[in-house]
Amino acid sequence: MNDRLVALAAAAQRELETAVAPEAVEQLRVKYLGKKGELAAILGGMGKLPPDERRALGEKANAVKAELETKISAAITRVQELALEQELKGPRLDVTLPGRGHALGRRHPVSQTLEDICGVFSRLGFVVEHGPEIELDWYNFEALNVPADHPARDMQDTFYVDGGSLHAGFAHTNPVVLRTHTSPVQIRTMLAQKPPVRAVMPGRVYRKDSDQTHTPMFHQVEGLLVDQKVTFAELKGTLDAFAKAFFGAKSKTRFRPSFFPFTEPSAEVDVSCVFCGGKGCRVCKQTGWIEVLGSGMVHPNVFRHAGYDPAEVTGFAFGMGVERLAMLRYGIDDLRTMFENDYRFVAQF
Ligand code: FA5
Ligand code: MG
Repeated sequence: MNDRLVALAAAAQRELETAVAPEAVEQLRVKYLGKKGELAAILGGMGKLPPDERRALGEKANAVKAELETKISAAITRVQELALEQELKGPRLDVTLPGRGHALGRRHPVSQTLEDICGVFSRLGFVVEHGPEIELDWYNFEALNVPADHPARDMQDTFYVDGGSLHAGFAHTNPVVLRTHTSPVQIRTMLAQKPPVRAVMPGRVYRKDSDQTHTPMFHQVEGLLVDQKVTFAELKGTLDAFAKAFFGAKSKTRFRPSFFPFTEPSAEVDVSCVFCGGKGCRVCKQTGWIEVLGSGMVHPNVFRHAGYDPAEVTGFAFGMGVERLAMLRYGIDDLRTMFENDYRFVAQF
């Protein structure tokens, strides 16, 4: 019987060495160590032996059993590793394939520009204020010194909204419009607080306009500073500091006399062309300058409409076109592409 035990151990060892699948190892465990397995069969015949031999053989059988258990668990580990290796190598899972990533979204160039503009002005001490896009005629025109018969209204082709009773105090007498500029927020801001004021007012505005440099919806950032003895020099200094922060330290500004009913004097501000550095090119129409905003000293009538005393305070205001600034910064030659909702466009910025 001792010989049979030795033979069993040797046979089991050989078979375990050649097993390559976890199922095969399990089958060998059942074959040798199972209840009806070969070891059990040998031990079953032990009853007929004399006590001495039986004990000796029992010890030997236990040793063989322990040895086999160790070898079986080693074999399980080995075939599992083998299976894993095969899986990694095999065609079922190619770990060298590049992953299918989720593309991150992008902020629209207009949003980026808007944030940058407000960022520059907040570092200059301006706070951000907001006003409604659907506005009363009074805030959009009248309070800004543009009465109903004023020819300056023709400069801003306006969308009128059917809904004249939106505001109780102005019912029927006051038309409702999609605001044509952010300047009405100047009035709302002044009516809501006492001077001094130092605010920028970003937002969407609407005009019946469409060509390469005009869209029916666009964005402006309004600026307003009101205090005692504010001068035109401060307006120039502020806008020049903005241009240098936004377009780079080398950029220059130029103030041209202009007209707005709500500022006096008024100026349009040009920035030295970012494409040619001021030498003259196709984009700046060979002038070396590009118009970016309107500005001026706040008109006394505007202060009166907003409840401020023009004998007490002075101030400056400006309004810049965000898409125009974005065009210049990113070299976009048609403003309308910004609103075609094509991801390939947005992904470039
Ligand atoms: C105004 O809207 C004045 N409210 C600006 C102002 C504010 C002057 C405060 C003085 C004091 P203007 O109509 O020029 O001005 O428009 C200002 C800027 O908006 C323009 O310089 C241009 O950059 C931009 N803009 C005007 N129309 C469009 C349009 N249809 N599409 C895109 N940008 C436009
Ligand atoms: Mg203009």
